[in-house]
Amino acid sequence: MSATAPNSHFLDLKDLPSEVLRHILNTAKVWKAARAGMPKGAVDVGTPLAGHTLAMIFEKSSTRTRISFEMAMRQLGGSSVVLQGAAMQLGRGESVADTARVISRYVDAVMVRANDHATVVELAEVGTVPVINALTDRSHPCQLMADMLTLEERFGSMEERKVTWIGDGNNVATSLIEAATRFNFSLTLACPRGFEPSEDAVAWAEAEGGDVTLTSDPQGATRGADAVITDTWVSMGDVDAAERMKAFGPFQVTSDIMKNASADAVFLHCLPAHRGEEVAAEVIDGPRSVVWEEAENRLHAQKAILAWCLGKI
Ligand code: CP
Ligand code: NVA
Repeated sequence: MSATAPNSHFLDLKDLPSEVLRHILNTAKVWKAARAGMPKGAVDVGTPLAGHTLAMIFEKSSTRTRISFEMAMRQLGGSSVVLQGAAMQLGRGESVADTARVISRYVDAVMVRANDHATVVELAEVGTVPVINALTDRSHPCQLMADMLTLEERFGSMEERKVTWIGDGNNVATSLIEAATRFNFSLTLACPRGFEPSEDAVAWAEAEGGDVTLTSDPQGATRGADAVITDTWVSMGDVDAAERMKAFGPFQVTSDIMKNASADAVFLHCLPAHRGEEVAAEVIDGPRSVVWEEAENRLHAQKAILAWCLGKI
């Protein structure tokens, strides 16, 4: 594929055609292999983002996203500026639009983790540099690119394979629905009643010909799965923790649930994890868990996302 225009946003998987997502994943694989054995702070051969700077805006907490994006820019030969939303004038009421206009004058791209998805969309609409969604209340597309890299490293193509999501129909679940549709695998989501994924995401998948099934039966949902994925029962910004703890009890991923999955099934979790809540320690710390590879792959997937947004691949 030829280089893209240097102002392509990465807001949601549904906004991008499968070929672009495939191209990003393939690049991530090649670049990951090319730097095997190198020190983590060493720059990649060719320094594709030399001279480029990424601004990173965080309205919510982060460990993986912050470190992996910062190291991604360093390895690509560029640099980054980390900003806490609350410490910016944005946190005192400066508009998103004015923030977008100003920040576009200083940096080459913006990564944003926002409370409200509309903030990311407005930054992209008003600003003049590429914007990357690093998690909102709606979605977490960078996570799903790392998850796809992890799954493909284990299984090769995910086409026609079966993935099961157990737990909250949250932001990560929405991006998983979009990934299933774009990468053509079968997805079953087992969620408690009242905590199903967004109707819009499910309707979009149906309209696009995606193979997405909803159920409230975690045992049945796991039958024959190649991968079982879960996430916290209480996401950042959720205010109904007590109600959630009650509703989600039967949705813990235990070794009993994993027994229904295929013999070589893997377990994924975007982290941070809560052992004894959404996942039993024996599963996340057991032989089927690929969560540490998954966390590392945030770095590799995002390097390719950054390079694509900036028109370098
Ligand atoms: N998975 C993920 O996005 O982790 P952080 O919240 O630590 O960035
Ligand atoms: N669903 C979680 C994901 C954290 C990476 C949250 O939004 O808090």
